Parts: sequence; structure tokens; C-alpha cells
Amino acid sequence: MIISRKLFYKNLKVLLKNSIIYFLCAIFVFFIYFHIEGFASDKKKKQLEPLPPPPVPKDNPMTSEKIELGKKLFFDRRLSGDATTSCANCHDPEKAFTDGSEISLSYPTTRNFRNAPTLMNVAYAKYLFWDGRAKTLEEQAEFPIMSPFEMNQNLDFLEEEIRIVPEYREAFKRIFGNDVNIKLIAKAIAAFERTLISRNAPIDRYLRGDENALTAEAKKGLKIFTGKGKCIECHYGAYLSDQEFHALEVPENPKYVNEPKFITTRRYVAKINRYPDYMNVKEDLGRYFKTKKKKDYKAFKTPTLREVAKTAPYMHNGIFKSLDEVIDFFNKGGGKGNKVLKPLNLTDDEKKALKTFLVEALSGDDLNIKPPEIP
Ligand code: HEC
Ligand code: HEC
Repeated sequence: MIISRKLFYKNLKVLLKNSIIYFLCAIFVFFIYFHIEGFASDKKKKQLEPLPPPPVPKDNPMTSEKIELGKKLFFDRRLSGDATTSCANCHDPEKAFTDGSEISLSYPTTRNFRNAPTLMNVAYAKYLFWDGRAKTLEEQAEFPIMSPFEMNQNLDFLEEEIRIVPEYREAFKRIFGNDVNIKLIAKAIAAFERTLISRNAPIDRYLRGDENALTAEAKKGLKIFTGKGKCIECHYGAYLSDQEFHALEVPENPKYVNEPKFITTRRYVAKINRYPDYMNVKEDLGRYFKTKKKKDYKAFKTPTLREVAKTAPYMHNGIFKSLDEVIDFFNKGGGKGNKVLKPLNLTDDEKKALKTFLVEALSGDDLNIKPPEIP
């Protein structure tokens, strides 16, 4: 009796020990399972995808007449205060809807302070502007019209300038069932912008199964893009952007750091964003100007890389003239003091292949958009 009780306790102890081990094993298996699951869905998210049809907001359906109207307004210099500048001056169809300048063009006598991004595929963007301060194209269009260093136009005055043109007035009535107003002007322009989509890009053909759409060199570059180069960490999906903001510590453009007009504009932007120390701001603080959150300090939107061969110079301040310079920047591990990038140690061959991928795979056919006749 005594012996078997001893035995009983011994067995109980072993049982307890074993169940602790089983329990720990179960936790371990669970952990691994969820880790792999999480990892797999992460991986799934960070892939390149072919362009789907663009998202269109319910309250601004696309019609060919509206797109035509939007195109006219996009090219119409009436949109600027002194009638010198249309949207197309800074977003030129001949330059993949950029202006080709490091720092964008400006309203006469003023100076812009950032590079003009391409409008190609802008329909897919979740945030607009380098600092993401607008979320829809309809909302965005009013910014450059009002901006003192871009079009410097008064919105009420513009409404009257457009309303006085019979062809415009009739078009607004026909298309919107309404008289001209600034919201409808913005809607028409946005509808036109949603047609600026890469057509027939080799990457899309490749992702849809055409193995021959990419050259061997471009395929090698794609491997670096998604592998050793880690570009896919931020440039993924159909838009080749995570639609997030990162502080890569791109250096300030030395050509402009001491230019009074440039400093004036940057101070003005800081001031209207209620940045308290706007008088002493020495750098472009990017998204921080808007959110005042620490994580956004000097963070800029990850731009799309579609059509990137045609959108030089690069970065929010146009500091890099060529893709070689951009690749060198990432290869070095980004700008001084950044916390997001690490050196890549790409060989010259790998850098060349990466560039070939960016140039060949991501360029679609020319849209061939010509300035329309302005009423
Ligand atoms: C004087 C030059 C200039 C003019 C004129 C101009 N833009 Fe821009 N545009 C820029 C610059 C510079 C930026 C980037 C500014 C920033 O991020 O702070 C920009 C950004 C944009 C963006 C955001 C793109 C993105 O990927 O985030 C859109 C959309 C856009 N402009 C459309 C327009 C439209 C529509 C018009 C006409 C109503 C227009 N622009 C007129 C220079 C200009
Ligand atoms: C941590 C996220 C991240 C990673 C990783 C990353 N990028 Fe970027 N990329 C960005 C951001 C953010 C910008 C804009 C930075 C700025 O203007 O300050 C940018 C800008 C660019 C531009 C300029 C585009 C333009 O229109 O001005 C190119 C080209 C580019 N990246 C290519 C690459 C390549 C190639 C790799 C891999 C070697 C890579 N990126 C890795 C986030 C990233």
C-alpha cells in the first residue's frame, strides 16, 4: 500500500513534468504557426502586382465628356492668377507629367520648394503630395490653384472666369447638371487625371504570365529588386509603393539651401501648417509639418516607380539627376543618420541589372496626350 502510494506520487510527478513539457511544446507550435502565418501574409502583401482598373469614387463617375472637360481645364492657363500657368506647365505630358526640374517651376517672382511628382498612375495613390496632405484628387486640385507660389489664383474669381466662357458653362450644365463651381472644376480635372495610367508596361505583361515580356537582364534586376536590394520592402503592389512615409535622410539640395525665395516658401509652408518655430526651420520636415508626430519627422511619401525612367530628377527635392545616383544612395544605406535603410553591398553588375529593371520593365507605352483647344 505504502509502496504503491509512493509509486503514485512518482507517476504524478512524471505526469506533471510531461504535461508542462507538452504545454510548452503546444505554445511553441502555436507561436511558430502564427509567426509563419503572419510572415506569409506579410510576404503576400509585399509583391508586385499588375495594374487593376483604377478606383473611381462613387460621387465622381468617369464619362468621356467629363474627361474631355477636365483635360481642357488641366491645360487652361486661366487657372493661374496671371494666366501664365496651367497644371500642364508643371505636369507636362512630354515629361511623363513632371516638369523635369529639380525644384518645380513656380508662380512668377516666387520659388517652389519641392520636386513636381509624375501624375502617371496617380489614380492609385492613397495620399497625395510628398507629405500626404491631401487624400483625393478632387481635394488636391484646389491646392496648386490657391498656392501663392504655384498658380496664385483666387477660387471665387476663377469660378467667374470659367463661367463667363459659354462653351465651359454649357459643358458644366450638360455634364453635372449644374452651373460652374470650384468643386466641379476639381471633379472634372480629377476625372482626367484618372485616365493617366501606364499602358502595356512589360512588368504588367510579365506578372500576367508572359515570360518573354522582360529581358534576361531585367529579370535579373527584378530578382535584386525583390531580394538583395530590398526595394520591395517599400515599393510593392500595383502602384509600387507602400503608400507610407519614411525618413531616408535625403540630403537638402545644396543649390537652394541659401536661396531667399526658397527659404521664404519653406517658411510660409511651415507657418500655414502652424509650425511654431517656422522662422528657424532649416530643412524640409516633410509630413511632420502636417502631423507634428515624431515618426513623421522629415518623412516623405514612398513614390511610385512606374514610369520612373521618364521622371528625373528624383526625390522630393530633385537632388539626384539619374537612377544611378538613386541606386548608389540606397546601396550606401541611405542618408546620414537614417534609421530605415542599411548598406546593400550590390556589385556593379547588380546595380546595372537593377537599373535595367527600373527602366525597361516599368515604362508603359506613350499616352500621346496633346494640348487640347482651349475655349
Ligand atoms: C507651379 C508648378 C505646379 C503647378 C502649376 C501644378 N502643380 Fe501639381 N505639383 C507640383 C509640385 C511641386 C507638387 C509636389 C508638392 C508637394 O508635395 O508639396 C505637385 C503635386 C501634385 C499632385 C500630387 C501627386 C502625388 O503623387 O502626390 C497632383 C495630383 C498634382 N500636383 C496635380 C496638379 C493639378 C491638377 C494642377 C492644376 C490644377 C497642378 N498640379 C498644378 C507643381 C505644380
Ligand atoms: C524604407 C522604404 C524604402 C526602401 C527600402 C526603398 N525605397 Fe525608394 N523611396 C522611398 C521613399 C520614402 C522615397 C522618397 C524619398 C524622398 O524624396 O525623400 C523613395 C524614392 C525612390 C526613388 C525616386 C523616385 C522619384 O520619383 O523621385 C527611386 C527611383 C527609388 N526610391 C527606388 C528604390 C530602389 C531601387 C530601392 C531598392 C534598392 C528602393 N527605392 C528602396 C522608400 C524606400
